[in-house]
Amino acid sequence: MTSSPVVLFHAGRPLDIIRVVCSMMHLIGAIMLLLNTFSKTILAERTPRSIKAQLDLFDVVPDVINTYPESECEVIYSCMNCPEDGRVVDFGTEIHPIETQVEPSVEWPADPNLNYALVLVDPDVPSKAVPTMREWQHWLVVNIPGIDFMSGKVLTEYQGATPPNGTGPHRYVFSVYQQPRKNMTFVEPKIEKRSDKNRSMFSTRRFADEYKLGDPIAVNFFMSEYNYPPRKPGE
Ligand SMILES: *[C@@H]1O[C@H](CO)[C@@H](O)[C@H](O)[C@H]1NC(C)=O
Ligand SMILES: *[C@@H]1O[C@H](CO)[C@@H](O)[C@H](O)[C@H]1NC(C)=O
Ligand SMILES: *[C@@H]1O[C@H](CO)[C@@H](O)[C@H](O)[C@H]1NC(C)=O
Repeated sequence: MTSSPVVLFHAGRPLDIIRVVCSMMHLIGAIMLLLNTFSKTILAERTPRSIKAQLDLFDVVPDVINTYPESECEVIYSCMNCPEDGRVVDFGTEIHPIETQVEPSVEWPADPNLNYALVLVDPDVPSKAVPTMREWQHWLVVNIPGIDFMSGKVLTEYQGATPPNGTGPHRYVFSVYQQPRKNMTFVEPKIEKRSDKNRSMFSTRRFADEYKLGDPIAVNFFMSEYNYPPRKPGE
């Protein structure tokens, strides 16, 4: 004998039907909540046109890269008193230095069969007005297999933003390159987290040229300044 929902409803008392309806409402509520969280992080995508507009507005082109990637590198800093999904980096978002001290999660449209390289730099060293030490390396990870970021090889360990007092807002630019080959050999000094040695006078462009990485395929950036007021809870 097969049981159908109709049989179930007939067999039940009115109270059971109310229970079923209530639990369905709960389920729908939970799904809506999930979709809402999703839309904040994942669906906040920019079009190639708005990516280009932001890169021009903040002079990321031509100060760091020459071309306009069509995709965004999704960057999220998790922080203790953030709303549920952390601080999302979105092409010029102003972020207090303290919130950038732990390495963020990064993601971009990736082919699982290819390797990628990620570069994070601050071109505004010591300031955007007088960038005599442009660029400062904050993070350099290569041979990243597809989206498996953790399996990449770290050449320069992550350093958060520490813009000095009186030097204005700094730009922090994430550029992602698709490597022409997997498991490439990079002849770069290994830079430890707490070391400033060999971080300055880097060039994202020169690095890409040297290893024939082509144009960046994804990009993003945030702004940080010594004097930014601390973020208010829930902001
Ligand atoms: C930052 O610089 C301003 C002036 O440029 C100064 O008034 C202020 O005291 C400085 N802050 C700190 C923490 O040194
Ligand atoms: C990468 O290449 C090195 C030698 O150049 C080799 O020892 C290593 O096993 C390779 N790694 C992968 C994941 O293929
Ligand atoms: C790293 O920096 C030191 C000086 O601090 C310099 O002598 C050395 O050549 C640098 N290495 C590279 C690969 O740039």
